[in-house]
Amino acid sequence: MKEKNLKRKDRIEAPKGPLGVLIPGIGGAVSTTFIAGVELVRKGLAEPIGSLSQLATIRLGKRTERRSPKIKDFIPLASLDDLVFGGWDIYEANAFEAALYARVLRRDHLDSIKDFLSTVRPMKAVFDRQFVRNLDGTFIKEDRDLRARVEALKEDIALFRLTHGAERCVMIWCGSTEIFLKQEDDIHGSIEALQKAIDRNDPRIPPSMLYAVAALESGVPFINGAPNLTIDIPAMLELSVTRNVPIAGKDFKTGQTLMKTILAPGLKARMLGLEGWYSTNILGNRDGLVLDDKDSFRTKEESKLSVLEYILQPHLYPTLYKNYYHKVTINYYPPRGDNKEGWDCIDIFGWLGYPMQIKVDFLCRDSILAAPLVADLALFMDLAQRVGMSGIQEWLSFYFKSPMHKEDLYPEHDLFIQLMKLKNTLRYLMGEEQITHFGLDYYMNGESE
Ligand SMILES: NC(=O)c1ccc[n+]([C@@H]2O[C@H](COP(=O)([O-])OP(=O)(O)OC[C@H]3O[C@@H](n4cnc5c(N)ncnc54)[C@H](O)[C@@H]3O)[C@@H](O)[C@H]2O)c1
Repeated sequence: MKEKNLKRKDRIEAPKGPLGVLIPGIGGAVSTTFIAGVELVRKGLAEPIGSLSQLATIRLGKRTERRSPKIKDFIPLASLDDLVFGGWDIYEANAFEAALYARVLRRDHLDSIKDFLSTVRPMKAVFDRQFVRNLDGTFIKEDRDLRARVEALKEDIALFRLTHGAERCVMIWCGSTEIFLKQEDDIHGSIEALQKAIDRNDPRIPPSMLYAVAALESGVPFINGAPNLTIDIPAMLELSVTRNVPIAGKDFKTGQTLMKTILAPGLKARMLGLEGWYSTNILGNRDGLVLDDKDSFRTKEESKLSVLEYILQPHLYPTLYKNYYHKVTINYYPPRGDNKEGWDCIDIFGWLGYPMQIKVDFLCRDSILAAPLVADLALFMDLAQRVGMSGIQEWLSFYFKSPMHKEDLYPEHDLFIQLMKLKNTLRYLMGEEQITHFGLDYYMNGESE
């Protein structure tokens, strides 16, 4: 992405017309909670709590200027009113039926928008059980040929655009977590290698990659809400840059990892040591069922484990963080449904090495935490596309457990640095000063500029 390609301030056009949100996994708990939530907000029946794009303000200029507009009034984002929804699932249920199944939202909430939700129907999915073993849906495209599957998805996208008059679309993967895959250069190393692998029906190519290729080749930004490898490979980066389309991922930062990236920067800021961090969860939704398969869990585990290492930087602080023990488990426990319970036992040490303990018991709702992230990501990725940003959108790290990053950089996990990065990007795009929180300038030479 070259700076001269970026449209800034006066050239960012206001978004016109509908914005299509295309979701692989549209019948899932996160997707239906997102779609229903947007409609409830549009109808004035609920508030978009948890959504930065809808609620947060952004400070501009000096503190003395007292300029803090809402983000949505500051930068030309699409409105929630503009969103139209489409997507794919391996189960045929419409969004109303699927939301009932997910048991996240209350019946009175769902009944009040039943007519709308019933019109949101999935398209047949591209699915391969080899990559998600614990599901057995049958609403799937029959063609076994991988290239034909990509083409069928592209036709779906084109038809959706036409039917909804949605010139602009974003695709956001809210499908199940696929099994753990490692980058392999012979199929992932370049777009040529990936295209060849698709053409020869290489069995190592998972459905999520076919969706991503279809999106990028259709000029549709792709966001990965799951920990799957999907777009985290050189081939996809190349495709997104050559097609001038942004990509972002991966794995929505909710629940326990959200807490971890709030707490760990605080411990490090105060130079408190860490002996061990034991995290365990019970979860009873379909995601929990999928993660009961050890290979799908491995994908999730990698995503969850990396967080502390990058925040605590043991190589810089060996006395504090060299040998801490970090364990994460997820247990499938049906009675809890989507209402996950996450426990953290954190063993820390302070002055002279004296031990202390922190216990966190987070009774959260997975999809309630994830839905506003889907909304924000759809709006920000549409913005990125309109201003001409392509490739990895590191400024959206705020939303992810494993933020994508340039090869020679390390990821930024600290929630507060991520937030600053996001807001400074918005300021930059709108031609406002970056805010560094330096502050000494207010006291220098008696001036307060
Ligand atoms: N809820 C959270 O807090 C959270 C946080 C981070 C990541 N995630 C990830 O988001 C994803 C969705 O979570 P969820 O709780 O909604 O799960 P879910 O099981 O309720 O929904 C996933 C949906 O994807 C569908 N699906 C699976 N493979 C598909 C394919 N190839 N094409 C189309 N549809 C397919 C399933 O049928 C299901 O309806 C999961 O990968 C999960 O790990 C969720």
